[in-house]
Amino acid sequence: MPTSPVPVPEAVLAAERRAVERSFAHSCEQATGRVLAVLAASVRPGGRVLELGTGVGVGTAWVVSGLEGREDVEVVTVEHDQALAELVRSTDLPVTVLTGDAEALLPGLGTFDLVFADPEGGKWTGLDRTVAALAPGGVLLVDDMDLSRYHRTDHVAAVTAVRDALVGHPDLVTAELPVGTGLLVSTRRPA
Ligand SMILES: C[S@@+](CC[C@H](N)C(=O)[O-])C[C@H]1O[C@@H](n2cnc3c(N)ncnc32)[C@H](O)[C@@H]1O
Repeated sequence: MPTSPVPVPEAVLAAERRAVERSFAHSCEQATGRVLAVLAASVRPGGRVLELGTGVGVGTAWVVSGLEGREDVEVVTVEHDQALAELVRSTDLPVTVLTGDAEALLPGLGTFDLVFADPEGGKWTGLDRTVAALAPGGVLLVDDMDLSRYHRTDHVAAVTAVRDALVGHPDLVTAELPVGTGLLVSTRRPA
């Protein structure tokens, strides 16, 4: 049966153009972005979203598109590269871009209803801080979890440890989504 693709929002296309202009090759794939938008759309009124690793704002734009102009939801994104953070700040994406190391900043950020964990900091290291930032009922989306992408044994071990920690966490319900570069999605059980 023929299918028509779900349209890509203009803000995402603009972010993808920024990626091309800057030869930035680490943005999330469209399939991953669509999942992100769906999860963002389900964030409760007055909720909060956190992205670890802003890049040029592709994932951020998917989150914003899922929220569709909802001003009651706060979106925070953390990027340690000052130039990238400035770049996304200069767009009209209605988000707060923090410059700094995700793992170091996490304990001071409060809790969130949706967390998108992209870089190694807050994922390969400091995963406990990311999990602690999940509000009850909050959802964590972790990118780049497909083990077949990794060839170094220490990288395979790091990704396996993330998977094991999330699958085995007593407060989380976790599933693997074979989407893009491999996703894990976890929900923190309400207290
Ligand atoms: C995979 S890219 C992010 C892509 C973006 N989330 C998206 O979906 O389009 C990872 C980004 O995280 C940033 N980064 C890496 N380590 C970081 C850290 N410890 N804290 C904050 N940002 C970090 C990198 O500079 C890079 O821009």
